[in-house]
Amino acid sequence: MSAEVFSGLWSEIESIGRVSSGGYMRYALDTPDLVLRDWFRNQADRRDMPVTDDGNGNLFAWWGDAWGRDAVLTGSHFDSVPHGGGYDGPLGIVSGFLAVDQLRAAGHRPARPMAVVAFVEEEGGRFGLPCLGSRLLTGAIDPAKAAALTDREGVTFGEALGATPAGPLPGLTSRISALVELHIEQGRQLEVPVGVASAIWPHGRWRFDFTGHGDHAGTTRMADRRDPMLTFAYTVLAANKEARLAGAHATMARVEVEPNATNAIPSLVRGWLDARAADTATMDGVVDAVVKRATERAGRDGTEVAVTSESLSAEVTFDTELAARIAGMLGDAPILPTGAGHDAGVLSAQVPTAMLFVRNPTGISHSPAEHAEPDDCAAGVDALATVLRELT
Ligand code: GLV
Ligand code: MN
Ligand code: MN
Repeated sequence: MSAEVFSGLWSEIESIGRVSSGGYMRYALDTPDLVLRDWFRNQADRRDMPVTDDGNGNLFAWWGDAWGRDAVLTGSHFDSVPHGGGYDGPLGIVSGFLAVDQLRAAGHRPARPMAVVAFVEEEGGRFGLPCLGSRLLTGAIDPAKAAALTDREGVTFGEALGATPAGPLPGLTSRISALVELHIEQGRQLEVPVGVASAIWPHGRWRFDFTGHGDHAGTTRMADRRDPMLTFAYTVLAANKEARLAGAHATMARVEVEPNATNAIPSLVRGWLDARAADTATMDGVVDAVVKRATERAGRDGTEVAVTSESLSAEVTFDTELAARIAGMLGDAPILPTGAGHDAGVLSAQVPTAMLFVRNPTGISHSPAEHAEPDDCAAGVDALATVLRELT
């Protein structure tokens, strides 16, 4: 495929949800996401691909029988992290439609159904739980629990969806024979246009509620303070240190402060820890150490800390035979692990899954600076079409 053809379709969605930072505010089921979902239906219509909704907010555009046996799925997600890049997610959906075009132009007749899928709320940017759509589809989360998740304005996922989610699709394992998710690579590891995923690091999110005593910044003696900001600050540094010592990744990047006033000692600081490692024991070890140090420090600060686990994503090893077979189809493409989470990782617990990565020249992601070259994106579509042709 030419870079021009790729860019032609890509330009249709490039401005949707883009804000002045240059990044994207595409929260699940919020206005830009709804525009993108309409665009998805429209693209499917243009290609005579009927669209089904699984009742969980995930959309499927079908070539062949909807939910016939042994379908091959490809796709990704539209939602972004706040001020994130435009490629993380949508590249996999746009590439899916372009791969269908390419296969049809070459006269391919799939021997089994094929679908382009748009998973809902992959980032957990709105309702806090990443891969919410794929967790619901596979039964990894109770629909009532998912329905009750709230966004920052107090709107529940059930309200945004307009219903309680339907939950797991009966007969999922016989209906899907493979999912191949194409995604921009999010680190600095891929030096050729296209690679294949081997594994996803286990990861999770923990909420730390630091409480203290709100008081006047001018009149409260330093010795009398019970300032949760101090405990929080210490915890941020402790997380960084523990992760470095363990060869893991730990990030505290989201924080809420009450009352959030320049001249008031806060009564509450709420911070979120994102922790990841090559194996679960290492990740758990880092989190345990951070909690221990936060708790000890709270004792010294006269504050309290309560820790809540908000999400866990288990270690994923993608189907090794499928990964090797796909790498072979692509002329010995490199096979590499990632520290980023994906819907393909969630589905891998139940059906054979694989991922194609498209080169990211700077390795930056979850940032407005995320970028992929049109030539590499076109190479990604070619690779995806090759894989889908072989699998169908
Ligand atoms: C999603 O991109 C994640 O890894 O958090
Ligand atoms: Mn992401
Ligand atoms: Mn993604």
